[in-house]
Amino acid sequence: MRPLEYKDGVLRLIDQTRLPAEYVTVECRTYIQAADAIKNMIVRGAPAIGVTAAYGIALGAMAIETQSKEVFFQKLKEICDTMRLTRPTAVNLFWAVKRIYDKACENKDKPVNQIKKIIEEEACLMDREDVETNKAIGANGNALIKPNWTILTHCNAGALATCGYGTALGVIRAAHEAGKNIKVYADETRPYLQGARLTAWELLQDGIPVTLICDNMAGYFMKRGVIDCVIVGADRIALNGDTANKIGTYMLAVLAKENKIPFYVAAPVSTIDFTIADGNSIPIEERKPEEVTHIKGIRIAPEGVNVANPAFDVTPAEYITGIITERGVLYPPFDESIRKLGG
Ligand code: MRU
Repeated sequence: MRPLEYKDGVLRLIDQTRLPAEYVTVECRTYIQAADAIKNMIVRGAPAIGVTAAYGIALGAMAIETQSKEVFFQKLKEICDTMRLTRPTAVNLFWAVKRIYDKACENKDKPVNQIKKIIEEEACLMDREDVETNKAIGANGNALIKPNWTILTHCNAGALATCGYGTALGVIRAAHEAGKNIKVYADETRPYLQGARLTAWELLQDGIPVTLICDNMAGYFMKRGVIDCVIVGADRIALNGDTANKIGTYMLAVLAKENKIPFYVAAPVSTIDFTIADGNSIPIEERKPEEVTHIKGIRIAPEGVNVANPAFDVTPAEYITGIITERGVLYPPFDESIRKLGG
């Protein structure tokens, strides 16, 4: 399963706002359409929005009608700026935009048409690499999973959130493929319900046993000894290991420590922000109040109530047992293990 598919100047995305009730795809033919798809969460999940931004820039670049390098690079910069403004927290987005822009700059001496082709090829390469990266994360994480374990996960860090296979769900998939008879508990993940709508759907498609719980039930199941391990994805990891992920992740990490349950983050190295020392500098997206006050357009809270809706929280490194990457599992002290990876 893949949330995005690019062919001949068209980026086709599964509309994740409509899953699981409807499986429909939307076409992006312009960079503005790709940027809107990220903003409106038609596509979501850190690695998937990074690669969507890369394809979006390719769509934008191809539509620039000029042979002048100066005009081309000025417009390319505007396109990159538009992509950067779509969502603030997942660093993969900024990583992807930079990678594409740098690639174009490295080839500045070539004719404009050739630079356009190079940008498109780089986006396709990033797409393929992401799937390979997730499979490596899966293999590295699988080594930590014991047979018959029940794994709790939050949000959706699956195939839908990447270019295929997933990060946290990549580890779960790898353990399932290895015949370890694992079970998954999926938090519903209020308010956007990525767990209930996407993770439950994705795991059911693959025949991986999944039990859906409300977010406030996690502690109950941990205390009763039902959960053997927690695995979540990440949107941005600081140099000291502090990790931003979907709102509610911090709560799970504290509960896991209290109940002596290992808490793993599964993420590609591109999710590490080598420019920030700790989680205090991670920008947290605040989303619209209607996501909290309404469910499927039906108001569930009184008119006029104040609402807060941060989309992510930061889990301090001290709660994280290990960070599973494509280059191995990182252990505390994370400032050392992360620095060893290099930027
Ligand atoms: O708001 P979302 O749905 O984009 O948030 C997604 C998450 O928090 C995921 O856990 C994270 O991006 C990792 S995806 C492999």
